[in-house]
Amino acid sequence: MSFRERIREVLEERETNLILALDVYGESPSEILNRCIDLLRKTQRFICAVKINLQVLLPLGLFDGIRGLIKEAKNYGLPLIMDLKLNDVGHTNLQVSTYIFEAGFDALIANPFVGWEGGLKPVFEKARSMGRGVILLVYMSHPGAVEGYGQIVRDPEDGRAYPQYMVFARKALRWRADGVIVGATRPEKIVDVKKILRDEVPIYSPGIGPQGGDPIKAMTSGASYLIVGRTITQSSKPTDEAKKLRDLIRPYIT
Ligand code: XMP
Repeated sequence: MSFRERIREVLEERETNLILALDVYGESPSEILNRCIDLLRKTQRFICAVKINLQVLLPLGLFDGIRGLIKEAKNYGLPLIMDLKLNDVGHTNLQVSTYIFEAGFDALIANPFVGWEGGLKPVFEKARSMGRGVILLVYMSHPGAVEGYGQIVRDPEDGRAYPQYMVFARKALRWRADGVIVGATRPEKIVDVKKILRDEVPIYSPGIGPQGGDPIKAMTSGASYLIVGRTITQSSKPTDEAKKLRDLIRPYIT
């Protein structure tokens, strides 16, 4: 079963499209690990996947504490996404993605700015050979994203000018990406990207809550999955918060 099928299956089983961004802080690796495990235990019924980024991977270590966290998520039947925003030349991308997939991650996030040949092609090939997923950044959620993802560029393929994110959305379709990231802070961009991707590539949307994005607006604009961090991780009642959000979003899942 592919990553795309696996995450969709969990979404349907649990009637939730929430992906928990486990952005946890701590004084030591064991404190971070314990917090992550505690949050997972408290929220697992209301989420369909877990996203880890470097702020947790670095202190825990890929051959060390992260394995315990991966095991814990798998015990709950949750796929894991590594938010690397991978962005280097092909041979190092390949080695990094191999480590990530062999550690047990089901998908990783990569940056299409590096291009296909000698960039992300080996990552997609590796992911496909292992039944894993690659999710591409198309428009990030923070204000400065406009400087890169929002700039107007000339597409070398037809010589015409387009916003960068529209070029990336078309690449996601052509490269058969397993998902794209478009920030919930820009619902009008979700609409634009959805018109290109239709139901071929699902949209993952971070940026709700502290970054100002509205979860319902993101859903009605075309998002398939919502990535949520601090709204849940920094709540004094993460279970209640995750349930509240799941209940709010459930009617909008298609
Ligand atoms: P909050 O606390 O704002 O956390 O809910 C959001 C999570 O999502 C990540 N993030 C992004 N990841 N593209 C990404 O790949 C984005 O545009 C983006 N914006 C936020 C962030 O790292 C955090 O884990």
